[in-house]
Amino acid sequence: MKFIRVLCVAVITLSVRALSIPDTANISVVEAGQSPSTESEPESERFVFAHFMVGFVNSYTQEDWNRDINLAASKGIDGFALNCDGQETNNQQLQYAFKAATSCSKSFKLFISPDFVHYSISDPQQVSDLLKSFISESAYFNYQGKPFVSSFWGEGIDWIKIEENLGKDLYICPYYYASQSAVETPGLDGLFSWYTWPGQDTDEVVYQNLTTNSDEEYLNLLAPGGKTYMAPVSPWFYSHLPASTGYAKNYHLYSDTLWTTRWQQILDLNIKYSNQLKFIEIITWNDWTESSLISPYRGTLTNDGNKEWSEEFDHSAFMDLMYPFISAFKSGQSKPQINENRLVWWYRPTLKSAECSSTDSVGEKPRGWEMAADSVFVAALTTAPATITVKIGDTTSSQIVDEAGVHTLAFPMSVGSVSFQMDTDGCQSISGNGAIEISDQCYHGVYNFNVLSGTATAGDSTSNPPESDNGTTSSTYTSSMTSSSPISNPATGTGVLSPAELTSSANSAPSKVETTIDTSVTSTANEVTTSYVGSIYSAPTNGWRNGGWRTHSWPS
Ligand SMILES: *[C@@H]1O[C@H](CO)[C@@H](O)[C@H](O)[C@H]1NC(C)=O
Ligand SMILES: *[C@@H]1O[C@H](CO)[C@@H](O)[C@H](O)[C@H]1NC(C)=O
Ligand SMILES: *[C@@H]1O[C@H](CO)[C@@H](O)[C@H](O)[C@H]1NC(C)=O
Repeated sequence: MKFIRVLCVAVITLSVRALSIPDTANISVVEAGQSPSTESEPESERFVFAHFMVGFVNSYTQEDWNRDINLAASKGIDGFALNCDGQETNNQQLQYAFKAATSCSKSFKLFISPDFVHYSISDPQQVSDLLKSFISESAYFNYQGKPFVSSFWGEGIDWIKIEENLGKDLYICPYYYASQSAVETPGLDGLFSWYTWPGQDTDEVVYQNLTTNSDEEYLNLLAPGGKTYMAPVSPWFYSHLPASTGYAKNYHLYSDTLWTTRWQQILDLNIKYSNQLKFIEIITWNDWTESSLISPYRGTLTNDGNKEWSEEFDHSAFMDLMYPFISAFKSGQSKPQINENRLVWWYRPTLKSAECSSTDSVGEKPRGWEMAADSVFVAALTTAPATITVKIGDTTSSQIVDEAGVHTLAFPMSVGSVSFQMDTDGCQSISGNGAIEISDQCYHGVYNFNVLSGTATAGDSTSNPPESDNGTTSSTYTSSMTSSSPISNPATGTGVLSPAELTSSANSAPSKVETTIDTSVTSTANEVTTSYVGSIYSAPTNGWRNGGWRTHSWPS
């Protein structure tokens, strides 16, 4: 077995101060998918959650929860904010959720967020009953030793009464509008905001990029009392529901470049308000009725009224864009550090001029449709200067970025199938195809201002051995596989092979093996984390086998 230093590796030199890195030979490593040893992992100061609509998954099984939680954990999410809507089915679903989080091999926490569209502010007993069965679970998120509780609305509920009912102090961080009276809520520890799309507060469409004005309003109100802030982040908003669903909603809030813009805002706020900005809540994990989700579509309700504009519009590539931002958020950096060349794209299926009223279920163009640019959006995550090329039908256009980083680019949208390529200096080319052809006709006969996302990395481009390679010649496949996040197995797109799997009989006698081991070191004021990514390529029968990652942290 040969160890190769891959050519295209971003050398990670961020350091808060000079570091002395222990010899890796005698570091006890933690294998992929297992919790780091607890004695060496200081409690992270900052957390990233995703808003999970429990009432949307009434038919979820234990396996569904296991899958969602493992996926979220693998993308750097620390836990779910469980939005409960008071349906009887919530209880069974919460039990599955806690079981899945408890058995997740990474640390994954849950907290409850009653939705006061359904709960009553005059009934603290009902909220106490909801919390009672779960706040002592080991997977329940505690902050400063107290079970953390959030909400959707509910200003006026008596939290002190709820704490008395439970016989426990809670860490109370609800979503209330920013106001002095909200901040003065008895028992309050922090506030959460839902203002993460331009115009969200009035549902009036506004043609401007999101600013941090609303965040700063909260932060400044909270500052005198030393209270914390949970900031919202969302990739998109489009809802197009006919009145028959009981939720007549038909508007698109301007979201073209929101995802990257917003994450950068979070990093900026984090530097300015590091004592207060402790939590992020991604809105949402699974609200496919508002196109704000980042998980794969799992719509299970029959009366959603959204299938035709959401089912095929996978948003999960947005998650592949957030990991560097999450790392930077946690370590207090002002910019994401890119260790892996990657393209993430998102685009609508239809030019905005398409008229669908005669076949559309709502029958009207959504408010806000004019604001959406007829563009295909690309975020280029680069370790060096790069050229990004988008081909739509027969039209090809390129843009150059001249430094490493995350670059959000817009390419003119036209009719045809879509493909993407990135050539980064000194690195292997990356390419991928959009899953849906752009059309000037109505997709499934409806107005669709949702987006489809997709992603490609160098790992993907080498996921199949070249045809000439039948295992008898020796060749080397190099790619920018270095990452401080777990790398998915390109052969299956999921999971990370454990060392046990690598040595299992199916993989024990590959015709040829190339291994790359890359080491990345990240540091914060409190800890140093070294990640080793080992990729084993065994050709031709076994395809890519990812050697998993190992990580070790110790105080700096
Ligand atoms: C780690 O190994 C190096 C040499 O291999 C040795 O000098 C050092 O003392 C070891 N450290 C620990 C903590 O065992
Ligand atoms: C939002 O920001 C993007 C990127 O800077 C810019 O291209 C776009 O024009 C802005 N949109 C509006 C409405 O100002
Ligand atoms: C494998 O490739 C080599 C070189 O191209 C060729 O000589 C050999 O016959 C091939 N073997 C098989 C089993 O196809």
